Amino acid sequence: MRKFYCLLGLFSGLLMLLLVSCSAGPGTETPEEKIILTPKPSPSPRINGTKVFGVRPGSPFLFTIAVTGNRPMKYEVLNLPAGLSCDAETGRITGVLDTPGEYNTTVRTTNSLGTAEREFRIICGDQLALTPHMGWNSWYVWENHVTDKIMREAADAMVSSGMIDHGYMYVNIDDCWSVKPGATDSTLIGEPRDANGMINSNGRFPDMKAMTDYIHARGLKAGIYTSPGALTCAGHVSAYEYEEQDIKRFVEWGFDFLKYDWCSYSKVGNKELLTDLQKPYLLISEKLKKQKRDIILNLCQYGMGDVWKWGKQVGGHSWRTAGDLGLSFEGIGTALFRDGFDIYTSDSLYLYGGPGGWNDPDYLLFGYISNWKGQTAPTPLTPNEQYTQFSLWSIVAAPLIFSGDITRLDEFTLSILTNDEIIEVNQDPLGKPGYRVSKSGNTEVWMRLLEDGSRAVGLFNRGESESEVTATWNDLGISGEKSVRDLWRQKDIGKFNEKYTSSVPRHGVVMLKIW
Ligand code: GLA
Repeated sequence: MRKFYCLLGLFSGLLMLLLVSCSAGPGTETPEEKIILTPKPSPSPRINGTKVFGVRPGSPFLFTIAVTGNRPMKYEVLNLPAGLSCDAETGRITGVLDTPGEYNTTVRTTNSLGTAEREFRIICGDQLALTPHMGWNSWYVWENHVTDKIMREAADAMVSSGMIDHGYMYVNIDDCWSVKPGATDSTLIGEPRDANGMINSNGRFPDMKAMTDYIHARGLKAGIYTSPGALTCAGHVSAYEYEEQDIKRFVEWGFDFLKYDWCSYSKVGNKELLTDLQKPYLLISEKLKKQKRDIILNLCQYGMGDVWKWGKQVGGHSWRTAGDLGLSFEGIGTALFRDGFDIYTSDSLYLYGGPGGWNDPDYLLFGYISNWKGQTAPTPLTPNEQYTQFSLWSIVAAPLIFSGDITRLDEFTLSILTNDEIIEVNQDPLGKPGYRVSKSGNTEVWMRLLEDGSRAVGLFNRGESESEVTATWNDLGISGEKSVRDLWRQKDIGKFNEKYTSSVPRHGVVMLKIW
């Protein structure tokens, strides 16, 4: 018996050791604490999210003003053009604009503690996605188990978690909503299309229109996914030779976002030929442009043919710049540095992103995500790696699409996703992606020029131990005495001459604003 207890003790000791080293992240010696840097939002109104929004003439308009602060909140928009109105209780701007032009409005929000005002520019023309998209996607947490119920719960969670108050707006289904030929699961089989060739959803999505209505009724937008090939990456029916019908269907169903994933299109086109790489995207964007509905087009073809150089020309509003960041659960930390930092410096990707079209290094992998073994598990990214991902994505002007479990957000995860000063960098209306200005050993300094003339600066440490990182004014193209603010802590640090040095933790970042 004693032997049994000894073994039990040994076993639980080993288990403890395993748990501690797991939470430490790959390669770390000591576990990292989840330190929350983002201050709690003030109870007074603060207007967040994008300051500029593009719409095409004649398309239905839906934009929810993002504002933090105590409820109830009253909303008002001054100088709103004819055709649009703002609901004073919900802050949703709806209607239709017929005349192209630039409309400068002022958003005013009021609660019992005060009023906040901010400029909001509506640009009616042929450009959408004037700042990077913000939202949630089902793939990394629900993969092939996604359902209508999950999507509705995600929309509810985007509201109840407060993410909507920080500018998040898209709720996007990824793969696995259509019929899967050859499947044995009864919810996935059926007629892939009706007699007119219109695509059907599978049994897990009984009524797509009702689902997008549900999402829209919460002031949010809905996204869908398909492939230009005959089958999606997970083997579900997709658009090949039914592009016209499928776009019609997506419009009818009320979608606002389309991820168009290459997958089986290799059976149709030759990946080595630029014309073949571009062809399906040109075809689909031409069809999208003819619709009286604004649908964001997200190209997903893993960066083939240097897509950043032509993604915008073929009608993309964003284009994935690499393969799947979370393809291997254990490898996410490594992928973050490879697909984020290295790819973005290898070919000066910053030159190609801007208002209307953005480089997309894939989703934010925080909170609970799939471990590809049938379970969800806490992200393998260490706390500092999570700060690094969100900071880098903001500097390079990447879409902020969270793909963990939005219904199970812990305080730390939410604090990373909702730091308004970092989001403001991501959503800066000038739309100039940042780039690396210096590198020394394992440390790198990245900079993004902002509309007000200030600079967002990331001091990154890719090394295995804490290190000092210095940003010199010379590298940043400035001189003299400058103010420095810590953006994660939302705190002014002071005035500095010629340079600023900070200690940065392993795989971590210090995000600054310098002006
Ligand atoms: C590809 C894409 C992923 C995801 C899956 C779905 O791997 O790159 O983002 O959409 O397909 O099958």
